[in-house]
Amino acid sequence: MKKLFYNISKLYGANERGTFKKGHEMQQLNTLENAWMLVENGTIIQMGQCPSEKEIEDLINHSNEWIDLEGLEVLPGFVDSHTHIVFAAPRHEEFAMRIQGATYEEIAENGGGILNSAKKLQAMSENDLYEQASKRVILMLAHGTTTIEIKSGYGLTVEAEIKILRVVKRLKENFKCTIKSTFLGAHAFPAEFKNNQQGYIDLVLNEMLPIVIAEKLADHIDVFCDKGFFSVEQTSLILEEAAKRDIPAKIHANELGLTGGVQTAVEHQAWSADHLEHCEENEIAALQKGFSQNYGGTMPVALPGTSYFLGIPYAPIRNFIGNGLPVALATDFNPGSSPICSIQTIWALACTQMKMMPVEAFHAVTCNAARALRLENEVGSLAVGMRADFFTTKTVDAVKGIPYFFGQNHVDRVFVGGDRV
Ligand code: NIG
Ligand code: FE
Repeated sequence: MKKLFYNISKLYGANERGTFKKGHEMQQLNTLENAWMLVENGTIIQMGQCPSEKEIEDLINHSNEWIDLEGLEVLPGFVDSHTHIVFAAPRHEEFAMRIQGATYEEIAENGGGILNSAKKLQAMSENDLYEQASKRVILMLAHGTTTIEIKSGYGLTVEAEIKILRVVKRLKENFKCTIKSTFLGAHAFPAEFKNNQQGYIDLVLNEMLPIVIAEKLADHIDVFCDKGFFSVEQTSLILEEAAKRDIPAKIHANELGLTGGVQTAVEHQAWSADHLEHCEENEIAALQKGFSQNYGGTMPVALPGTSYFLGIPYAPIRNFIGNGLPVALATDFNPGSSPICSIQTIWALACTQMKMMPVEAFHAVTCNAARALRLENEVGSLAVGMRADFFTTKTVDAVKGIPYFFGQNHVDRVFVGGDRV
């Protein structure tokens, strides 16, 4: 069953399969004009530009279905490599407290924050959580995101962490888009373990992790390695145990301070280090070292939604790019620090607040974001052999226009594996 997509005025992200871009390469945009794609079994099997009438006729004769994309522009579906979308409720009360001057850390120290979300999630049924999370997946799809990473971390008990990961498993089974799961049992210390942190780490490693492995519930492991949360030693201990079981790491690092999180990520060959609001030369040197090693490097992932919503610094991505590093962007969609579902808004924030050029940020939300999940051979670019995940937009010059006309949804039709969703 071959599907022909034709009449595409401009197709962006026509990179070679497996591409991700570092430093100045992030400025180099690959496009096709007057493009077409032939899709079979969800994969692009042929593509090109400016076909003659005869070529169109041939293509049509060799396809079973023809989809006219009406002269619109096409972008690869966005890859959101960092979300926490299985949560029970918003935290409106903390929003109000922060507006009146309280900081994120003060709220967390007083039992709010992640612990507040955990209390609410523990009380909610798996079915209700599933219903809520699936609405968020639908919302993200409608905003052009076709690959989503989802973390646990609002459970903090064996039962509740596993409940979240089972919800993610159901989402994977029921949605056509690519969903990847991350076990973040080490997100915060529950109040009852305040004076017995090792006791909680033992629970994560000896009780949660075996179930996660037995039920194949996680593609990666994460730790909130930061001031007031997990120390670098505690993080190392958890990542070492995960590595023994072949679970790759993606960690929360350097959101609240210069804590050594980035260095720890590189030391443990993490696939990504996310947040990075506090990064100086040593962090950049560590990331550079990662990309010189044969494990493939630790992708820096910036989360400008968090900086915007919490009023904290933005990750110094110009220094990253200027030092030849790649950068990815994600929403961090969660109820505490970044209640944003739309990569389009993240793209705009990256341009206005972090001074990324629109083209650089486009790569940060497509091929580089795919690399943060080591999925760059499957999603994030439109090339032969890649999944036919893409959307059309009526915005002309979309890579410039989407971050410019911020705050609106530029997505027209979304396709996952060549099927309309
Ligand atoms: O990525 N920083 C740690 N975790 C989440 C926020 C958690 C919360 O406040 O609910 C984040 O920002
Ligand atoms: Fe996060």
